Amino acid sequence: LSVSCTLAGNISGGGRTGSARIALLGATGTVGQRFCELLSGHPYFGEPDLYASGRSAGKTLREFVNLPDAHISPSLLSSSISEVDAQDIVSHNYIAVFSALPSSSAQEIEVRLEKAGLRIFTNASPNRMRPDVPLVVPEVNHEHLRMVWEKRGFIVANGNCSSIGLALALRPLVSLGIEHVEVTTMQALSGAGYPGVPSLDALGNVIPFIDSEEEKLSAEIPKMLGAYSDGKFTPFPVRVDATCTRVPVRDGHMEAVRVQCSSRTDAEEVRRLLASFRSLPQELALPTAPVQPVIVREERDRPQPLLDVNAGSPERARGMAASVGRIRVEGNSIRFVVLTHNTIRGAAGGSVLNAELMYAGGGLH
Ligand SMILES: NC(=O)c1ccc[n+]([C@@H]2O[C@H](COP(=O)([O-])OP(=O)(O)OC[C@H]3O[C@@H](n4cnc5c(N)ncnc54)[C@H](OP(=O)(O)O)[C@@H]3O)[C@@H](O)[C@H]2O)c1
Repeated sequence: LSVSCTLAGNISGGGRTGSARIALLGATGTVGQRFCELLSGHPYFGEPDLYASGRSAGKTLREFVNLPDAHISPSLLSSSISEVDAQDIVSHNYIAVFSALPSSSAQEIEVRLEKAGLRIFTNASPNRMRPDVPLVVPEVNHEHLRMVWEKRGFIVANGNCSSIGLALALRPLVSLGIEHVEVTTMQALSGAGYPGVPSLDALGNVIPFIDSEEEKLSAEIPKMLGAYSDGKFTPFPVRVDATCTRVPVRDGHMEAVRVQCSSRTDAEEVRRLLASFRSLPQELALPTAPVQPVIVREERDRPQPLLDVNAGSPERARGMAASVGRIRVEGNSIRFVVLTHNTIRGAAGGSVLNAELMYAGGGLH
């Protein structure tokens, strides 16, 4: 990436609020509200114009906010919502469009906007595996952004909320020769949007099935860990077997992971690789980048969603770090649990970090 550290340092410094014009599609939803929090007073981007369905048009964002811990600026709360309309959105000349639309409506609208020359940062799944769409976790595969660097219209996708946390924990272990990953997820209710799973199905219960989730993990991890060169992504040769469950937790996807490697290792080396992991977002001190992307918990009963879901500093990167604990190693086999905030690192924050990286590198001007 043609990213200048000096440029990024200058842009992110000083607590200034940015002015680059952006739009947010799906602003009233669970992920949309997280976007509003993360884009409040953002140092690069101005506050987004808000879009949702015709049901919400003409109302203010304040009427939809149902996340008790989201700190959204008063000006955004008073902003009124417009109905998603491709022609209208194109006419505004936005430098970037963030999408938190459901898959059912995202596919058509995102492709129309892309063809009209807009830059889309999406959370929706339909375009993730397209051969010309980078599926990016900036610390894991920022080089995949080269695919779209020179393009006028493009889509950059986030992974599935569980794939993102898993990719962050696997990336530092690639040097050990990862061959096979088995993962069992314990996914929060907010992962199903709002109102999501009916309360009588969720309370005091575990639901051992989430539609299409296991397939997404198996497909997305090889793409994220894979290589990019000559306009092509080459998947990383790893088999990922997943079992996905929904648990009565508000926020935070926990994953119990077993990684089979070609090299022998020990718990000390695994801890060191994870805790010392840094990447380009940290080098550039991007506003939403956590200083330490993977935090290793030494306590035998951590991480826990209630205690650790908001891991990450500085304040703008709250909820952006993955927490790893319960590290156990036998020969070539590593076991651990990883926890990430599904609507921040696993969704809105992931998109914002992708856009920050492109902005800091000059790819959004
Ligand atoms: N929740 C997570 O943890 C998570 C994690 C990763 C990725 N994602 C993905 O992120 C996206 C959003 O998820 P969510 O959980 O925020 O869903 P959600 O709470 O159901 O919100 C959906 C948003 O899309 C809008 N919308 C629905 N149908 C529309 C249409 N036909 N035209 C325009 N706007 C429409 C809704 O507006 P109205 O209020 O007007 O209906 C609302 O703003 C999904 O693609 C999801 O798969 C979610």
